[in-house]
Amino acid sequence: MIPKKDFISLADLSPARIQELLDLAIVLKTERAEGRNKPYLDGKTLAMIFQKPSLRTRVSFEMAMVHLGGHAIYLSPDEIKLGQRESIPDAARVLSRYVDVIMARVFAHADILALAQWASVPVVNGLSDFNHPCQGMADLLTIYEKLGRLKGVKLTYVGDGNNVLHSLLFGGAKMGMHIVAATPVGYDPLPEVVQQATQEAARYGGSVQLLRDPKEAVRGADVIYTDTWTSMGQEAEAAERRAVFPPYQVNAELIALAQPNVGIMHCLPAHRGEEITDQVADGPHSWLFDEAENRLHAQKAVLVDLFKDTD
Ligand code: CP
Ligand code: NVA
Repeated sequence: MIPKKDFISLADLSPARIQELLDLAIVLKTERAEGRNKPYLDGKTLAMIFQKPSLRTRVSFEMAMVHLGGHAIYLSPDEIKLGQRESIPDAARVLSRYVDVIMARVFAHADILALAQWASVPVVNGLSDFNHPCQGMADLLTIYEKLGRLKGVKLTYVGDGNNVLHSLLFGGAKMGMHIVAATPVGYDPLPEVVQQATQEAARYGGSVQLLRDPKEAVRGADVIYTDTWTSMGQEAEAAERRAVFPPYQVNAELIALAQPNVGIMHCLPAHRGEEITDQVADGPHSWLFDEAENRLHAQKAVLVDLFKDTD
């Protein structure tokens, strides 16, 4: 009997497990490029709960299941009304009687934890207000493919200290990367995430540094990463944020201060002209669409791994 595995945070994985998932993702990506994936998830069904909109997460999970011989069911914000129409413990237990995996995109991270607590099938975090581990895995995969290593890579995140940064901090620290974040006052990543990532980074040969000045932060960067200034659920703060963040735009002037072959990353959706310019998003340094593609391959690895007895 395989113990129930959840995929909630990169903080829960060891560096060896992250590397195993990256290696599996590359195998699955190569297999697909050469023809088709073997039906690793034959007959398995994934329920996909969304409290928020999505393009990448919805389509890449659905296609991952199709390519692996399984099936996915999309449950829109209006259908489930998680925690409103019925309680999370009830929804988790009912879904567990029908499907083999639950993926959920939620507002409150506590809702993902409650789903995982009450579901008897594995739960995958498809983004919460706290973190975005599937994005983090795709990001590590992208950097690993592009640079051939993670250890020692300097990644500078510029912008809002949000869920995406939290997953980069957790994942990057485990893999011995140097993560620098330049955020405005009041928009720092959570101190408990920074503290944990700093300790892990020190253990695995990396580092974490928080700065205010994006120009100082990108100096010598191998990778520059940015994300929207206003995350889903923060729409009421959009105007306030638009006033604070312009010095944190990733533009040609900023990226010229990094390594000459710097890679540019963004989880997407991009707000062009705000956190990133068209010139950079569509320029020769952009890894944006390889990164988006890698959601598919990284998540295939996560899904296949859920049913492997590896622990
Ligand atoms: N990056 C990401 O999660 O995209 P979606 O919101 O479109 O799923
Ligand atoms: N930080 C963004 C990521 C979107 C994929 C948000 O939470 O809206």
